[in-house]
Amino acid sequence: MNEIKIFSPATVANVSCGFDVLGFCLDSVGDDMVIRKTEKKGIHITKIEGFDLPYEADLNVAGVSALAMYEAIDVDFGFEIEIYKNIKPGSGIGSSAASAVGSVFGMNELLGRPFNKTQLTGFAIKGEALASKCEHADNLAPALFGGFTLVKSISPLQILEIPSPDDLYATIIHPQIEIKTSESRAILPKKIALSDAITQWANFGSLIHALHTSDYDLIKESLHDVVVEPHRSKLIPHFNAVKKAAITAGALGCGISGSGPSIFTLSNSLETSNNVKDAIKNVYSKTGIAFEIHVSKINTEGVKIIS
Ligand code: HSE
Repeated sequence: MNEIKIFSPATVANVSCGFDVLGFCLDSVGDDMVIRKTEKKGIHITKIEGFDLPYEADLNVAGVSALAMYEAIDVDFGFEIEIYKNIKPGSGIGSSAASAVGSVFGMNELLGRPFNKTQLTGFAIKGEALASKCEHADNLAPALFGGFTLVKSISPLQILEIPSPDDLYATIIHPQIEIKTSESRAILPKKIALSDAITQWANFGSLIHALHTSDYDLIKESLHDVVVEPHRSKLIPHFNAVKKAAITAGALGCGISGSGPSIFTLSNSLETSNNVKDAIKNVYSKTGIAFEIHVSKINTEGVKIIS
C-alpha cells in the first residue's frame, strides 16, 4: 500500500469540568487527508483545500506531527500529504488536532502500524503545540481513540478510554468567528480558589463515574465548569442565552467546546439533541452572526481509513 485516504474527526475538548484532560469524538464533522509514500525523502505537503494554511511542513500542524514521526523512523522514502480541510481553524472543535492526528495515523498505516495510538498521540502533540503554544492532548486523544478519553498524564503520556453511553448525542453550534486557542488560554487565571478546585474535581469525578454507569441524571449534575467557563464565556457572543435555551430544551449540559467559540451540548436522545438544535438555532438566528450547527452521536471509532 502506497497511498491512503483517511477521515480525521472533529472533537470536543474539556467537556465543561475536564479542562485539558477530557474530550470526546464527533462523527459528522472532520477533515479528509491523503497520505502517500514518495521516493523523495522528507515530509511534503502537496495540496491544501478548504482553508489557507502553510505548505511548509515545519509551519503546518499536520507537517510538524508528521516530521516528529519521521524523525523516529529510518526509511529511504518520504511522504506526501494532501489536506482537505472542513474544520475551520480556531473553531473550538479540534481543527488542529484533526490535522495533527491525520498525518501520523496515515503514515503509521502505510508503515504497517509500528506505533500504537498513545505513541501516535506523542507525535501529534508536537503539531498541536504549534497551534496552541503548549502541549495538551485532550483533542488529540479522542480523535485517535474515539469515544471519550481522559489524558491522565502528558509526560509520560497516559490515556484512558472512558465508555460512551449509548444514547448520548451532542449538538454543537459554531459561530463563524475565530478565537485563537493561544489567546483564550492567555486570559485564564494562573491560580484558582481551593473552593472552586473542590467543586471542579467533584464534578469531574462524578462525570467519569456517570459515563461508566450510563447515569444520565448524574451526567447532568456534573456538567458544570466553575474554573474556565466564567472567563472564556465572555469571548463568545450570546453564550449565556444559548446555554439557557439548550437546558430549557432538555440538554443535560452545555459548555464551551475546547477554547471556543463553538458551544457543545449533550443530550440523552437524538430527539432531544434535535430539539436543542432548534432552540439554539432560534437564539443565534437573531444575532446576525453566521453559524453552523451539528448534531452528532459520540463517534467511538475515531480517525479511520476511507480508502
Ligand atoms: N484544552 C484546550 C483548551 C483545548 O481549552 O485550551 C483547545 O485546544
